[in-house]
Formats: sequence, structure tokens, C-alpha cells
Amino acid sequence: MPVILGIESSCDETSVALVADGRVVLANIIATQHDLHAKYGGVVPEIASRAHLERILPVLDEALATAHLRLRDLDAVAVGNRPGLIGSLLVGVSAAKALAWALDRPLVGVDHVQAHLYASCLQEPTTRPDQKTEIIDPRSLFPALGLVVSGGHSSLYHVEAATRMRLLGRTIDDSVGEAYDKAAVILYLGYPGGPKLDKLAQTGDPRTIDLPKSLLDRDSLDFSFSGLKTALLYKVRGFPKGRGPAATFERSGADLTPQEQADYAAAFQDTAIGILMTKLQRALEVMTRQGTPARAILIGGGVSANSLLRRRVAELGQARKLHVGIPKMSYCLDNAAMIAGLAHEDFLHHRFDDLNLPAVATMAQ
Ligand code: KG4
Ligand code: ZN
Repeated sequence: MPVILGIESSCDETSVALVADGRVVLANIIATQHDLHAKYGGVVPEIASRAHLERILPVLDEALATAHLRLRDLDAVAVGNRPGLIGSLLVGVSAAKALAWALDRPLVGVDHVQAHLYASCLQEPTTRPDQKTEIIDPRSLFPALGLVVSGGHSSLYHVEAATRMRLLGRTIDDSVGEAYDKAAVILYLGYPGGPKLDKLAQTGDPRTIDLPKSLLDRDSLDFSFSGLKTALLYKVRGFPKGRGPAATFERSGADLTPQEQADYAAAFQDTAIGILMTKLQRALEVMTRQGTPARAILIGGGVSANSLLRRRVAELGQARKLHVGIPKMSYCLDNAAMIAGLAHEDFLHHRFDDLNLPAVATMAQ
């Protein structure tokens, strides 16, 4: 069983993982930087890259210790080299090159977005002989419909193979994760807002507040979330007097009662996830019309940790008799296990990169 070391540093998590056979996660250490960015309400690129530099070696040591492995036990070094914040990516890419060169092991550059869609194939080592995990051959899932939902992305893909995907639709403004984070600020829930809003939404009634469900054109597979965010802002604070930064509002999120706060959270969650579900269904129909019906629905990215999205996607898969790939909670957020896992396929086919591997900030398509 080849063991691949993975490195992830595209945004604000520094992560190193060891994955055997492309699936079995022997270690997946993640150092988050949430505390460093919280007071700015979002990720500050310069602070992120410096924090990666400080953390990468301790995180590597901890991953090796957790897996009870030494550097010489590794078969390859994989790194998420695209897309992401350039300064952050450079730290992981430099560390991966140094390790690959010093250990004389192959280097594999991995696409972070493709890795999110691979995350549902990852599993923990089985410790008890009576414990059986369903082993899914990723190749049996294609063609699949993929949905990547995170702070940076809201995109639908026709997934032809683990490393071959065609973009079907994407957001024309904010990503869904960004909308969650901004909605949480409006509701005074703090940063990062997604998990907090999700939890609170479970105690609210979505029917008490009407928010617009923007679906764009009748056939569009693109997303738009900025109107939803603005509608929530005006419902909570009232219409602004004046324009731009000088605008004043009648009320603020701080005036909401706990029940109102929960109801707004529930209405936002219901609308945002409703938009994702409508587009997933449309995309399934498009794939069928194109003569390549999906055999599976794969989701990934930070927002795939959302309780309502997980439930609705599972229901959709059941109704359409499709396999559903939903990552375990620990593999939804940015992590290196998905990088090391996806690199396995390239490793088997001897598709390696050399030491000129670049860090690339933008998406291929
Ligand atoms: O994939 P990720 O860790 O980083 C990016 O590549 O952006 O995703 C982070 C995003 C944040 O916007 C966060 O608020 C959101 O995922 N998120 C959630 C939940 N957990 C994390 N959004 C909704 N519900 C959740 N449970
Ligand atoms: Zn991500």
C-alpha cells in the first residue's frame, strides 16, 4: 500500500496528512488560523502566509508521529498547488518540493477543487475486525455531478474522472460560504459564520420570514447569492437612509430577540440550500439530456458540512437512485488528506511533476 504525504496551505488552514492506498487516512493534522483572522472578519492574505510558514514544520512532525511513520517510509509527496492565495500556496509548494528533493520521492501537484470532490472517498483505518467500511471504487461513480461549495467556490461540475471535470455553472457574485459568513455578521453570530448559523437555524422557523430565491434564467446553472445577503440585511436593519458607507439604518442585528435571530437564520439557510438543490436537480437533467446521465452526486468544500445540505442531497440521491458522496465532517473543510488521496491516481500512473511545479492562484477553467 503506497503511502502519500499531502500538504494543503491554499487559504487559512495549514494541513499535513498521510494517506495509504488513496483512501485510508493514517493522519490528517490541521492547524486553523481562525483566531488570527477573526478580528478582521475574513482572511488577511499576508497574515495567512506568515502563519503557514510558522506552522508547516510542527504540523508535519505531528502528522508523522500520529501515523507512527518516518519520512523515509513515504512513497510520494503531494501538494495542493492550485487555486488559492498565492502567498499561502507558495509555503506548501516550497515545503513539498524540499521534501521530495531531499527524500528523492516523486512530487504530485493537486488541484484543490478536484480534491474537495474526492474527499467523500476517504476513510479512517478500521481498528476493530468487526468494523466494515464500504469500499467504493471511485471509477464506478463517473460520470458524476459535482458540487463544490466553500468560502471561495460555488460551482457545479460534470465530473468525467477524478481529475477531469467540466464546469457547468458557478456563482456570478458571492460564493455560498461567503454569503453564510456575511449573513452571520448581519445576525451578530461572529466569524466563521457558517457553522454557527447552521446550528442556530435548527431552532428557528424558516416560514416566518420571506427571502428571495434567486435562480437567474430558467435554464441557468449559475448561482447568485448577493441579492439574498442584501435582502437579509434590509429585513434585519430596515431600509438604509443615505448611500454607501455613510448610510444609516433604523435597527441592527443586536436588537433581535434570540427567537427572531433563530428564525432569520432558518429562513436564510432554507433559501440558500434551496437554491443549491434546485441547481443540482437542473444539472442532473442537463447531464441526462446530453446523453451522459450522472451515476453519482458528489459534494465537497466547507459548506458540505451543512446539516440541511447533507440531508437534502442524501434524499435527492435516494429519490433518483444515485450514489451520493458526502465527505465525513472532518474532510469537508480544507484538509491535506483529500490532497494525498487524490494524488494516488497520478502516482499509480507515474504522472509526476518536477521541481518547477508552480503555485497557481486561479482556476484552470
Ligand atoms: O472549504 P473551506 O474550508 O475553505 C475555502 O476553501 O473557502 O470552506 C469554508 C467555508 C466558510 O465560508 C464557512 O462559513 C463555511 O465553509 N461553512 C459552512 C458550514 N461549515 C463551514 N457553511 C454552512 N454550514 C456549515 N455547517
Ligand atoms: Zn477549499
